[in-house]
Amino acid sequence: MAEAPVTADLSRLPADTVTLLRRLGALARERGTDVYLVGGLVRDLLLDVGSVDLDVAVVGDGPAFARRASEALGGTLVVHERFMTSTVTLEDHTLIDVATARTETYERSGALPRVKPAPIDADLRRRDFTVNAMALQLAPAAFGVLLDPFGGAADLAARRLRILHDRSFLDDPTRILRMARFAARLEFGLEDGTAARLAEALEGRAFEFVSGDRLREEIYLGLNELEPAAVFGRLEAWGALDTLLPGASPGGDLAELEELAGRLIALCEKGATWDPSALRLLLLMRSALPPALDAAARKLNLPPSSREVLKYAPRLPELARAAEAAEKLSNVHKVLRGMPLEVQLAVLVFVGPPEARERVFTYLRGGRGLAPELTGDDLQAMGYAQGPGLKPILEGLVEARLDGAVHNRRDEERWVREHFPRPPLAPSDPSAN
Ligand code: CTP
Repeated sequence: MAEAPVTADLSRLPADTVTLLRRLGALARERGTDVYLVGGLVRDLLLDVGSVDLDVAVVGDGPAFARRASEALGGTLVVHERFMTSTVTLEDHTLIDVATARTETYERSGALPRVKPAPIDADLRRRDFTVNAMALQLAPAAFGVLLDPFGGAADLAARRLRILHDRSFLDDPTRILRMARFAARLEFGLEDGTAARLAEALEGRAFEFVSGDRLREEIYLGLNELEPAAVFGRLEAWGALDTLLPGASPGGDLAELEELAGRLIALCEKGATWDPSALRLLLLMRSALPPALDAAARKLNLPPSSREVLKYAPRLPELARAAEAAEKLSNVHKVLRGMPLEVQLAVLVFVGPPEARERVFTYLRGGRGLAPELTGDDLQAMGYAQGPGLKPILEGLVEARLDGAVHNRRDEERWVREHFPRPPLAPSDPSAN
């Protein structure tokens, strides 16, 4: 006897989302096809934990359906023809990722797959873990009915991750990193066969077949999880970290350091010139020696700005000690000036005593970008010669500002005359000889 269909409790989702999903199901039916809710949202719905991504899979022409949905719902559309995927952005900024249900074939290990439209069960079969290979029907006649061909719901209940076929990690070794993210985030274990296939893949040096860019993307996703130390701790426990990222240290105080870094990151607006992921990577690699840091930078194809950040790892303890000893903001400035913000924040994370921490924080919040009101031109107008002699004067002004010795232009002029009483003369000035 066939088992009764299981219907997911969609009332756990916001009412607007449910209305949206119903409309998508109806729109697909109008076109004589079916659309399914897939991916992490189905998993998280069954687990009753929050989720953000709205992924749907359409049987047939995904981009054409996405176009129709975008018109009907008043959104904007971006289509990625090569992968037969589209993103619809609604006016309230809701994102819907619309994929064409498909098969994927891997021509070689670690390569990007070749995709071909397929029925929904084939689409689920190409996925990474049973808990991610479930779908919810959105058709009006079967709204919310669960498709679970691989026993994902049972694995969710048993809190374990299971791959769908033996070649899974060979096809796509980045799944090992995904597995670490899910295992850490959901606090799941590995099913025995999956653990055995993992060991084989690591023995076969699976990561060597993956491009640096893909590895970096996956590692950054791990670094941006709520508890990165747990993600990289899993990789270490599985024996995967040595080949992936030699020199990484997820143990010890990383969890604490990451937690503090997370709070600092939330306080700093991400700008064009700084990257929170580079800060997190620096903390993960805090105990690595220069050769391991160089190797990681090359392997992950890091951009020059992140390479520069990583280079500071061996100096962090010494910089933190110097910052702790700094009694004035101008001393903090002398320790940290000219360094990338990621490094300065990492130093702050390492500073222990609350008073010193407060001082470094004050410097980073307000002092770091401080410039004197007087410019080089002003100093020349005051009789100081153009050239390298102006630099110590301007630098001295920054320090005087930081320590509250000057507050405005008049103070600055007075300070300069007092500390540099005899203007250095221009080298071309004949009276200088
Ligand atoms: N997927 C996969 N293999 C990959 C990447 C993705 O099988 N290498 C499938 C999984 O079914 C996954 C879905 O695509 O659930 C969506 O991918 P993604 O958004 O990366 O994963 P989520 O499960 O949604 O994870 P998260 O909660 O981190 O967003």
